[in-house]
Amino acid sequence: MLNIPLMSNNITRDDVKCLISFLETADRFTNGPKVREFEQAWSRWLGVKHSVFVNSGASANFMTMAGIAQMYGKGEIIVPTITWVSDIASVISAGHKPVFVDADMRNMAMLESQVLSSITDDTKAVFLTHVLGFNGLSQHLVDELARRGILLIEDVCESHGAMFGKKKAGTSGYTSNFSFYYAHHMSTIEGGMICTDDDVFYQMMRMYRSHGMLRENDDENYRDEIQRRYPDLNPEFIFMVPGYNMRSTELNAVIGLNQLERLDGNIQKRRENFRIFMDGLDSTKYFTGFDVEGNSNYAFVVLLKEKDPEFFARLTAVLRRENVEFRRGTAGGGNQLRQPFVRKLYPGYEPADYRNADHIHFYGLYTGNFPSLDKASIQALTKLLREI
Ligand SMILES: Cc1ncc(COP(=O)(O)O)c(C=O)c1O
Repeated sequence: MLNIPLMSNNITRDDVKCLISFLETADRFTNGPKVREFEQAWSRWLGVKHSVFVNSGASANFMTMAGIAQMYGKGEIIVPTITWVSDIASVISAGHKPVFVDADMRNMAMLESQVLSSITDDTKAVFLTHVLGFNGLSQHLVDELARRGILLIEDVCESHGAMFGKKKAGTSGYTSNFSFYYAHHMSTIEGGMICTDDDVFYQMMRMYRSHGMLRENDDENYRDEIQRRYPDLNPEFIFMVPGYNMRSTELNAVIGLNQLERLDGNIQKRRENFRIFMDGLDSTKYFTGFDVEGNSNYAFVVLLKEKDPEFFARLTAVLRRENVEFRRGTAGGGNQLRQPFVRKLYPGYEPADYRNADHIHFYGLYTGNFPSLDKASIQALTKLLREI
């Protein structure tokens, strides 16, 4: 048996040691100086001005969409059909209307022509997901959105270190979201980050993270002005926005700081693994037309070339037999339009009309790609796939 799990060793003994030594000396455990240090280190790594560390990637999505509604009003948000559930749920719960577009087979992100043709006077933003480590942006899309005054929001939860030309994914839009869940490129066990160059949005996210509290905003002039405007309120308890408690802890930040040290090295190893994997695929059976420039995949994508349910059934049976862990439908389980909550809220959509998303849904899956995976195992996996 091949025995390949989805993820291995993403919290190392060294991370645990680091955590223990922190616990032995620390006197503050919730959101504090270590969180700030991790945010600053992350901003430097990514190349943005500000980052806000939260307790999950989904929280980053929910806060981002709430912040957009607060600052720019509710409206239409153009979303992918291949993405994670919180990218849709966050749009809905912030009071926006999701407008779905099909996937582009080359990167599984949004089909550019459909994004542009979906823009209306009510469009507030495009919420693009960089799927499973592929860059989902083009210069044309970035330029067109800028020209039309549409905000670009990048979900990079699955694609830390992916490159759009010379820029890291997560630095071309108004704001971006990351996840540090155990299965991703690096982990704080649970965790997420919201990144932006916009000072006002940054302060908004700081407040949203902690119940909407004014005192979380580090703009002193703004705090003074609000306190003067509301003399009847206790300055420690002024709530500016209908916020959440989505804070993380110092413990998670300590792990994040330690993990960040090896992120670039791990991305390199995963890139090399992915190259070996793609080289070994039989392009008559599997889709190999991915745009791999600047990719940073934590998973191997297995996508059938043809719509062949029997072949797909054989494929999953063989992977199960060989104890190769996999997830069907790729990111988020496939076409989001097929999910019960979407069908109920937006019955007007016909999931099958989103042909690429549906192909990925029914004939796609991913297996694990982690730094310690050796070349022989990857080659044994591709041999197995060739022989099905
Ligand atoms: C694209 C995308 N966005 C958001 C999330 C949510 O992140 P988390 O699991 O940290 O809540 C995920 C999944 O893990 C994801 O793949």
